[in-house]
Amino acid sequence: PIPPATPQYRPSYHFSPAKMWMNDPNGMVYVNGTYHLFFQHYPDAMVWGPMHWGHATSTDLVHWQDQPIALYPDKLGWIFSGSAVVDKDNTAGFGKNALVAIFTHHNDPEEKKKTNKHQYQSLAYSLDGGQTWTKYAGNPVLPNPGIQDFRDPKVSWNAAAKKWIMTLATKDRITFFSSPNLKKWTKESEFGAKLGAHGGVWECPDLFPLTVDGKTKWVLLVSINPGGPNGGSATQYFLGQFDGKKFTPDQATPPTKWVDYGKDNYAGVTWNNAPNGRRLFLGWMSNWQYANQVPTSPWRNAMTVPRELALKRVGNDIYLTSQPALEVGQLMQPGAVHLTGLPVKTELDLTTRLPQPLSDKMRLELSTTQLTDFTLVLGNQQGEELVIGYDKKANQYFVDRSKAGPSGFSKDFAGRHPAPRRATAAAADLTLLFDATSVELFADGGLTTMTELFFPSAPYTTLKLRSTAGLVISEFDYAKLAPDAN
Ligand code: FRU
Repeated sequence: PIPPATPQYRPSYHFSPAKMWMNDPNGMVYVNGTYHLFFQHYPDAMVWGPMHWGHATSTDLVHWQDQPIALYPDKLGWIFSGSAVVDKDNTAGFGKNALVAIFTHHNDPEEKKKTNKHQYQSLAYSLDGGQTWTKYAGNPVLPNPGIQDFRDPKVSWNAAAKKWIMTLATKDRITFFSSPNLKKWTKESEFGAKLGAHGGVWECPDLFPLTVDGKTKWVLLVSINPGGPNGGSATQYFLGQFDGKKFTPDQATPPTKWVDYGKDNYAGVTWNNAPNGRRLFLGWMSNWQYANQVPTSPWRNAMTVPRELALKRVGNDIYLTSQPALEVGQLMQPGAVHLTGLPVKTELDLTTRLPQPLSDKMRLELSTTQLTDFTLVLGNQQGEELVIGYDKKANQYFVDRSKAGPSGFSKDFAGRHPAPRRATAAAADLTLLFDATSVELFADGGLTTMTELFFPSAPYTTLKLRSTAGLVISEFDYAKLAPDAN
């Protein structure tokens, strides 16, 4: 049964399925001016079930058009996560410029479970720009060697090796495979069985180069569930070199680093073939701890905002930074507010300085003149509060949703969730994106990122800044964001 509809919880510029269940982003590829987004989808219920690939397209990453379901389960199994490539040179023989999806077939009857061979990799192709898909008759192309978890292929063309490279999650490690034609795969190497976080199974990897200090470095994303820094699902990353066969981390024992320290950014990967060398990322804005229970209807779950990834050096360390993609700026509505030089003496109520009523789809940007304890508090007449702040002693940002709204749907939802500050600058700058039930925090140029959901029982109507430590806000910017801007 579908619970009563909750239009007040529908995000406007974050992608969410019109109805029913969604998890991981899949098959993200850019071709001929179109960004494709496929996603784990169960069209018959608001909970996880037999997986399909749902499909949506966009020309600007912030306005999405729903498309027909791309891939349905078949006799080889359900359609789990995977990627898509443009086969420019027709290496697979499906056709020049064919779009080829490489995904996990998951087939889980009891007997297959016992043999641990129920996940294997398969292909489907599209010759009409992603509208219709044909499964390859020779599936699966990468059979299971007897590993319980063997899934989520991310495939990209490696120009130096002149081969396709598949990055695959194989239980507690990543296995790299190569192929000249997407059909025949050779195992190259394994990485990570004894490195990084292992609180749960490894899933949904990605491997791509970025530049830092004028040099190429390879980034390996690995989602794990559970075992995230604030419980449940989260995505860690490793930095190193990839020579077409093997990933070698920069440090023999790399410290665990997370793409996002909030509870609600999982299974994120990047677009293949994004223009201008951009490295664009999208995550699933939820957590397996409660994704099946969140109080929305008739859909469950949304994606994060599209993010631009980069590497940034801080002293001897290098971090992956995330910033909202520039396209998010197109959503700015009239009525933006710019304030400067605001001292916060205990409490500064900004409510009346912003357009009324307060929008639940907004971008706030603030910079401080120094670094001291402070909180930014959204509140409503029910006394519910969403608190976002900085704790100087711990040198942490945090989101506290303990009192942000009812959370009886899961014991793992309410709480105060910290994230380490990475920047060393003497002042902070924050960008906050709100969209109905989510906040995404980008601190210090994206060096610390947090994504968190909340479900207030009535809209937040007040916005206050609190500090007893002599905070001065040097710049404060408010803009309403909505997708009807252009
Ligand atoms: C990650 C994941 C993937 C899998 C998919 C199934 O959230 O568990 O490993 O392919 O979801 O829906």
